[in-house]
Amino acid sequence: MQLREATGPAMVIRREDYTPPPFWIDRIELTFDLDPAKTRVLNKMVLRRNTEVPAQPLRLDGEELNLARVVLNGGGCSFKMDGDALVLGSLPEGPEPFELEIFTTCSPEKNTQLSGLYLSQGDFFTQCEAEGFRRITYFLDRPDVMASYTVTLRADKDKYPVLLSNGNLVEQGELPDNRHFAKWVDPHRKPSYLFALVAGRLISREQRIVTRAGKEHLLQVYVRPGDMDKTEHAMNSLIASVVWDEARFGLPLDLERFMIVATSDFNMGAMENKGLNIFNTKYVLANSATATDTDFANIESVVGHEYFHNWTGNRITCRDWFQLSLKEGLTVFRDQEFSMDLCAEPSARAVKRIEDVRVLRTMQFPEDAGPMAHPVRPDQYVEINNFYTVTVYEKGAEVVRMMQTLVGRDGFRKGMDLYFQRHDGQAVTCDDFAQAIADANPDSELARQLVPFKRWYSQSGTPRLQASGHYDAAERRYTLTLSQSCPATPGQSEKQPFVIPVTLGLIDAQGQDLALRLQGESQTSRGTRLLVLTQASESFAFEDIDAEPVPSLLRGFSAPVIVDNGLTDDQLLHLLAHDSDAFNRWEAGQQLALRRAVQAVRAEGPVGAAPLDEAFIGAMRAVLRHPTLDAALKELVLTLPAETYIAEQLDVVDPQRIHAVRETMREQLAQALQADWAWAYEQHKDNGAYRPDPLSSGRRALAGMALTMLCIAARETGDTVWPGKAYQRFKDAGNMTDRFNALSALVVSGQPLAQEALARFHAMFKDEALVIDKWFALQAGAPDRGGNVLPAVRQLMTHPDFNLKNPNRARSVIFSFCSANPAGFHRSDAAGYVFWSERVLELDAINPQVAARLARALDRWKKLAEPYRSAAREAIARVAAKSDLSADVREVVTRALAE
Ligand code: TRP
Ligand code: ZN
Repeated sequence: MQLREATGPAMVIRREDYTPPPFWIDRIELTFDLDPAKTRVLNKMVLRRNTEVPAQPLRLDGEELNLARVVLNGGGCSFKMDGDALVLGSLPEGPEPFELEIFTTCSPEKNTQLSGLYLSQGDFFTQCEAEGFRRITYFLDRPDVMASYTVTLRADKDKYPVLLSNGNLVEQGELPDNRHFAKWVDPHRKPSYLFALVAGRLISREQRIVTRAGKEHLLQVYVRPGDMDKTEHAMNSLIASVVWDEARFGLPLDLERFMIVATSDFNMGAMENKGLNIFNTKYVLANSATATDTDFANIESVVGHEYFHNWTGNRITCRDWFQLSLKEGLTVFRDQEFSMDLCAEPSARAVKRIEDVRVLRTMQFPEDAGPMAHPVRPDQYVEINNFYTVTVYEKGAEVVRMMQTLVGRDGFRKGMDLYFQRHDGQAVTCDDFAQAIADANPDSELARQLVPFKRWYSQSGTPRLQASGHYDAAERRYTLTLSQSCPATPGQSEKQPFVIPVTLGLIDAQGQDLALRLQGESQTSRGTRLLVLTQASESFAFEDIDAEPVPSLLRGFSAPVIVDNGLTDDQLLHLLAHDSDAFNRWEAGQQLALRRAVQAVRAEGPVGAAPLDEAFIGAMRAVLRHPTLDAALKELVLTLPAETYIAEQLDVVDPQRIHAVRETMREQLAQALQADWAWAYEQHKDNGAYRPDPLSSGRRALAGMALTMLCIAARETGDTVWPGKAYQRFKDAGNMTDRFNALSALVVSGQPLAQEALARFHAMFKDEALVIDKWFALQAGAPDRGGNVLPAVRQLMTHPDFNLKNPNRARSVIFSFCSANPAGFHRSDAAGYVFWSERVLELDAINPQVAARLARALDRWKKLAEPYRSAAREAIARVAAKSDLSADVREVVTRALAE
């Protein structure tokens, strides 16, 4: 374990303090002698002074490096250390280039942080974003310093037959002592966070493709020997990504060779290093026997995401890390659009949108309301790794989506074209992006409202949108009043109005969209139209309306806001039955369920046996039995809002009561619709040969849900038929989705057969790490029954397959419990919090980035009811009291405890 400085004031980095770098680094030549214990790194750089800023010493970033030698223009030079920085004072004064050679060593085998150069199952990998390059060599490790890289790798030939870095392989050959080398030249300038190397025993699936310009490219997916049969889907996803970015945005692949490499030890999902993407195995490896439909879909979007970074992130990068959403928000938006465009059916697009919005609401809304709330473009940070958040990523993507909504799809394409025309090869800001989209669309609402629109970048917190309708029968006019407000967030007490695009339709008594004409307009439009709210409150009057309509607001979720639409249950039921917008049908169902959940949670006394009324149950039955609705949409509509989402509606949260209410609601739905679930299961369980397309995965999802509901209903009646069928299904399933759904049905419903099935599942897949992760996660995330999950989790941590150093495994047990199992975690005896604080400290000594993510499991402690609240605060304080915390964890717990 490395030693850290005892406390001291946290170094806060502020956006307003940005200054351009005092030096540029034009070229860098790196030579690595790779060795697990001691890797030698020779770094030859060509630098020059940036004469546009006042002269100052060169301060090179470094971390955990052993410095051996510094050479300036071939001779000696004086330098000093200032903390971690290497400082050179006496350098050439003019703008002419000079050469600096720095020789260091580092120890990859001791690197458990997985930032910089590290080992994974004996192979070398790097992770440089955000500030990992400084753990490899001294450098100006900031994204606005872009250099041309030449990299030579030398290593043992048998242990490391494959030697990879960014760009093109220009030379390779033999060396003495059974070693060999490979030399790579990256034709594109890049910031240091995009540097990568990989060395090890790997094999690759290869595919040659010809792009529109007639150029040939080599695509490769590298994995460990034995995993080749799990690479086809990743390769297909990569090919689809290349084709899509050319077709939708005119952006071609700019490299002769594009590589993806999978590693089982990775802090996040994947990394977009130029031409050499490095992926968590979870987002590469899949075949029908080991991966679920969700895994297949995730691989498609993460492969797309990293590939799309090649333009949005790599060709145009961030000026500083405050601009992170410039690349992440935009690239998430692009990967969401990619997955939607791959859907053949319009309803499948809506399903994807619902899934994305669900993530936003259950993860980002709570973040925006908690102690870590920050704007999409943050103003300050202590540790940048803490700001790779759902706000920067998912809310950032919503901000880009609103721009597209305001300028239209074609206008957005024009804006992207202008963005690349202006900024290709540069390190820029979120302002530059918004300006380009607006400038390309001078007559748009975005251009007119650009300054207020950009408050989406600067103001944190989730705006609330209130709608109320008034129908005037005499005037045949329907007036819709929209008002907005936004609660205070840390450091921001007053908020100015946001520019909120509100996509809407008005529905008549037959369920048809009305023709819409606003007061003062001459043209009428049928169906969906766009209103833009720019003030705190505005009214919109629709003319020629014969009877009071039901408004369908925020179709497709046109803005990341919390809506209070003021609709009655009957109006919501009408939307659920008829809305032409599939998203809003789902939304109406969620609101109906949410109202019932909140009412039952707030009620006095013990949780009633039947929180659901006949109208709601009947509506759910109608959806389940609907002749034309997609199975995937049915499954989403019939899924009750998550416990964390229910919690967000309340001022004081009792996690046990919320759990009890939601479980009761689910039991009621299971029993009341028993015959319908049986019908749904039989109708959807067979899907022929496995294909992960939206249609058949939707059918599997609905069949899986039906099986769970039937097992839940069976628990009440003591019936053994359905648990028996589930167990049979578990054994006979032809793919992992069906097998895991059956296993999960038994576990979730607490059937005695679950134990047998779990043991069998482990035996079947003991050599498949990603499947064993699922096995751990299912148990750690299981519904709590009388406090049984925590002891099970402690037991799982003693399992021979458990390994705290492997992030995927740590997440599968610890995060599945602390962050995804509220009722298991929030115990009245505080044992969940004790477990949490122990794990945060234990992980912090190994991997601060992962520890800091776990630390956020108690973000919302202030909302908890007693005794949870006091116990949670105590646990956080216990962590905060440690003197040798990483900056990562320190920042999270400090903010959590702040007033
Ligand atoms: N840029 C990566 C992405 O979104 C994120 C990432 C991968 C990352 N690894 C990381 C961020 C390590 C911080 C630290 O695609
Ligand atoms: Zn990204």
